[in-house]
Amino acid sequence: YKVEMDADDVSKGTYDNYMLKEIDEQPAVLRRISEHYYHNEQASISSQLLTALQQADRLYIVAAGTSYHAGLVGKQLFEDLADVPVEVQLASEFGHHLPKLSAKPFFVFLSQSGETADSRQVLDKVRQLDCPTLTVTNVANSTLAREADFALPLCAGPEIAVASTKAYVAQIAVQAVIAQSLGIQKGLNAAKKIDIDNQLSLAANAIQTIVDQKDYLKQLTHDYFYNQIAAFFIGRGNGYATALEAALKLKEVSYIHAEGFAAGELKHGTIALIEEQTPVVAFVLEKSTAAHTRSNVKEVLSRGAHALIISKKDLSNANDQIVLADIDERLMPLVAIVPAQLFAYYAAVEHGNDVDQPRNLAKSVTVE
Ligand code: G6P
Repeated sequence: YKVEMDADDVSKGTYDNYMLKEIDEQPAVLRRISEHYYHNEQASISSQLLTALQQADRLYIVAAGTSYHAGLVGKQLFEDLADVPVEVQLASEFGHHLPKLSAKPFFVFLSQSGETADSRQVLDKVRQLDCPTLTVTNVANSTLAREADFALPLCAGPEIAVASTKAYVAQIAVQAVIAQSLGIQKGLNAAKKIDIDNQLSLAANAIQTIVDQKDYLKQLTHDYFYNQIAAFFIGRGNGYATALEAALKLKEVSYIHAEGFAAGELKHGTIALIEEQTPVVAFVLEKSTAAHTRSNVKEVLSRGAHALIISKKDLSNANDQIVLADIDERLMPLVAIVPAQLFAYYAAVEHGNDVDQPRNLAKSVTVE
């Protein structure tokens, strides 16, 4: 696979900065992933890779930052569609405290840059243990891509803004492709029943609908985040993984202190921080937990929080501020993160921050 870079990829075009351009590119990225991975309704994952994955009794997904959050979503995809247990590990922890591994571990490294030192260190370590490895990177020919047994591309195109957006959705999408291919290889009904190619196309349309409502999202950002020093994002399951990534985005570019929380855990301590007008964004994305998460929203509302609900259409209520088009629940994080990316973006712009080069951050961190 060769990244074909044309001038449009690396120029800002009519945009003031790369972050907004890259948020807007997300529907196109999902379509590109479909084009790259699907031919005649078959995913083109090599049989050698599928065989190696099939032999594993456990997958270890290793990553840092935003890529780690994509791994949390990937865990559910692999467990549901391919019936394999998954552990998601922070590279910076895992490298120094290798847990007792399963008998037949398989390592999946997620990295936009393919150069993150913490992830490289783990790759070195597990290769010494002769464990099979796959890297999924956006930068083809990166160190991680070269050193692993298998490498797959994210197809997101060059990501220039430090805060990762389109690489995150690409990581979720590519994990879905691999998980489903593995499930089909294993003959599992769960994998046969879902059409990932079609889901990616539905997700692309759903994202387009969100990015087409920029004026509304900008206004919501002002109403909820302006002059705030702290914000909370809550959800369960996939909504929790989304909350973690949403909080990271807001911190990275707006410098507002944000936390992503499991909706049911907030009451066990952290709810003490809720004050009059504290923004709390809740993701309601799963049928099985929607009622629970809504009752957590009531808890924070009664403490004065300014709550904003992002829900999936078939689980929505009349007062929800953002209603997302319905796609398969397991892929909802592809869509649900996008309003939060725009909150982060507009809050940063309103605060006059350098959106593409936030203070203290680097696009690729090559020190441990
Ligand atoms: C840096 C970047 C983050 C990124 C993380 C992991 O900290 O600022 O945006 O998520 O590294 O990077 P990777 O390239 O391995 O995905």
